[in-house]
Amino acid sequence: MRFKDRVAIVTGAASGMGLLASQQYAAEGAKVVLTDVNEEAVVAAAKGIRDTGADAIGIRVDVRCYEQIENAVATAVETYGSVDILLNSAGGCSTRVHGRSEPFHQLPIEVIEWGVDVNFKGPVLFCRAVLGQMIEQKSGVIINMGSVEGITGSGSLDYGASKTGMLGLTKSVAIYGAPHGIRSCCVSPGPVMTRPAMANMWTRLGRAAEPEEVTKLILYLSSDDAAFITGSNHTIDGGRSVGAR
Ligand SMILES: NC(=O)c1ccc[n+]([C@@H]2O[C@H](COP(=O)([O-])OP(=O)(O)OC[C@H]3O[C@@H](n4cnc5c(N)ncnc54)[C@H](O)[C@@H]3O)[C@@H](O)[C@H]2O)c1
Repeated sequence: MRFKDRVAIVTGAASGMGLLASQQYAAEGAKVVLTDVNEEAVVAAAKGIRDTGADAIGIRVDVRCYEQIENAVATAVETYGSVDILLNSAGGCSTRVHGRSEPFHQLPIEVIEWGVDVNFKGPVLFCRAVLGQMIEQKSGVIINMGSVEGITGSGSLDYGASKTGMLGLTKSVAIYGAPHGIRSCCVSPGPVMTRPAMANMWTRLGRAAEPEEVTKLILYLSSDDAAFITGSNHTIDGGRSVGAR
């Protein structure tokens, strides 16, 4: 019960690693505010957690909209009294999400804007929204989901650039937050089996990660076991980013 009486806000909590981390935070005692642009799925996900006897609420939040972000943070504080953890998990490759196959220089601008806004601007805005509360509490942890493609670069330029941005955001929040007892870490996965196609991506270990392998790391970094860890990136990629191929 590492998160007993702590309050976690998770973005992109309706599916994949955001959902799994939400379930695991709750199983270890946290009260969880699940947020996602997919309202039906996030409300159902929160109900699923409540059905286990834990505390959770599901709120529709589009991370591109600061007003909705601020509303979710206010709801967390009003309902549960604090914001101890923020997990910025909402994200994805813009071409996959929008079903596009053109090269980058021919992509519609809206697709590229979606990529930068969801993968990078949203996390920056969410940090803006929670930091005041965390400073007041003199504690807090912000975990940002990067990607191995933020380290190696990516054929999806907006995705790769945004995920590199998560490394900078993490370091900057660590500098900003340290005097107030706030930590920040970035988790940069290689392929993760949140969808079957990830099994086709090369890694040195010859497989993609199971989502639990990544959420275990997220939970560790969110916990007091990682009290001396801040400003760092944690690559979990089966060796995809090391050596020459
Ligand atoms: N799956 C992988 O192989 C992999 C690898 C590296 C990094 N990542 C990163 O990990 C994170 C989670 O990935 P996943 O595969 O578990 O996710 P997923 O695709 O299963 O879930 C992403 C969630 O984000 C939500 N979302 C999309 N747009 C949103 C918006 N505007 N506002 C709020 N929510 C929005 C979706 O509705 C969805 O529930 C992402 O940031 C992703 O880039 C994933």
